[in-house]
Amino acid sequence: MDCRTSGYNSPANIVAGPKLMNHKQTTSGYKTDTLYAKSRKSVAPFEFDQQVADVFQDMISRSVPGYALTLKLIGQIAAEYSQTSSSCFDLGCSLGASALKLQQYAAKDCNVIGIDNSSAMIDKCQQQLTALGLADQITLRCEDINKAAIANASIVVLNYTLQFIEKSARQPLLNKIYQGMLKGGVLLLSEKVSHPHSETEKLLTELHLNYKRQQGYSEMEIAQKRSSLEYVLIAETQQQHLDRISSAGFGRATIINKALNFTTFMATKT
Ligand SMILES: C[S@@+](CC[C@H](N)C(=O)[O-])C[C@H]1O[C@@H](n2cnc3c(N)ncnc32)[C@H](O)[C@@H]1O
Repeated sequence: MDCRTSGYNSPANIVAGPKLMNHKQTTSGYKTDTLYAKSRKSVAPFEFDQQVADVFQDMISRSVPGYALTLKLIGQIAAEYSQTSSSCFDLGCSLGASALKLQQYAAKDCNVIGIDNSSAMIDKCQQQLTALGLADQITLRCEDINKAAIANASIVVLNYTLQFIEKSARQPLLNKIYQGMLKGGVLLLSEKVSHPHSETEKLLTELHLNYKRQQGYSEMEIAQKRSSLEYVLIAETQQQHLDRISSAGFGRATIINKALNFTTFMATKT
C-alpha cells in the first residue's frame, strides 16, 4: 500500500528507529525475515508493503553486504559535511536507519527529513521513532521522491532506493537533488550495481548468493526473493552511476564503500 491508497497525508509526520519487540525475533530484537521461506505457487513482484516493513530491518541487514558500514559512514559524513541550519534528506527512508544516523551526527540545528512512498514503512518508522523518544527530531513524509521538494540540503542520502526508481526518472531525480543542494553539499548514493563483464557479474552474483546462504537464507528463500525482485530492482553499472552523477552537476565523486556488487558513492557539489 502506498501513500495514495492509505490516506496518509504527506506533511510533517515524525518517525524514528527500531527495537520494538515482535514475536519471532532475531537476537538484535528485530522480527526475522521468513517471507519467502514457504514455497509459493507463483511469486509476485516485490513490494514494500506491510509484510516487508515488519521484517525489513532483518531483511536488509542479512541481504546487503556492507550495509552496517554504510550506515556508519553516513553518520561520519553527516558529522563532517552537514551545514548549519540546512536540511538533511533520507530519500526512500524505509524504517529510518539512515535518517537516524543523520539525526545523531548532523549539526544540531539541521532539519532531518525522511521520505518514503510506502505508508507501511512510514507508519512503522513513526512508531519506532516515537518509542525512541525521537518523534520530534525527524520529519517523516509519505511522498514520492520524484515529486518531493528538495531545498537547502547539505546532505542527501539515497541508500538502496534509486535502483527501485524507473530508469527514465533517475537522471531527473539526481538533477533535482543537485539543484536543491547547497555548495559543498554531499550526496550519498548506495546501489546494487551490475558488472559490465558477464563472467565477473556471474562471479559476484555467486558470491552474493553464498553470502545469503551464510546469513541463514535457504535455497528456496533465495530463489523466490530473486524472482520477486527480477523486474523491480533494476541495477546499473558503476560507470552509469558515475556518469549520471556527473551529468547532474556534481564536481567530485568517489566510491567510499564496496562489498561485492553493493556500492556507495559519495558526490560533492563543488
Ligand atoms: C531498499 S529500501 C531503502 C532502505 C533504506 N534507505 C535504508 O537504508 O534502510 C527502498 C525504499 O525506497 C522506497 N521507495 C521506492 N520508490 C520510492 C519513491 N518513488 N518515492 C519514495 N520512496 C520510494 C521504498 O518504499 C523503500 O522503503
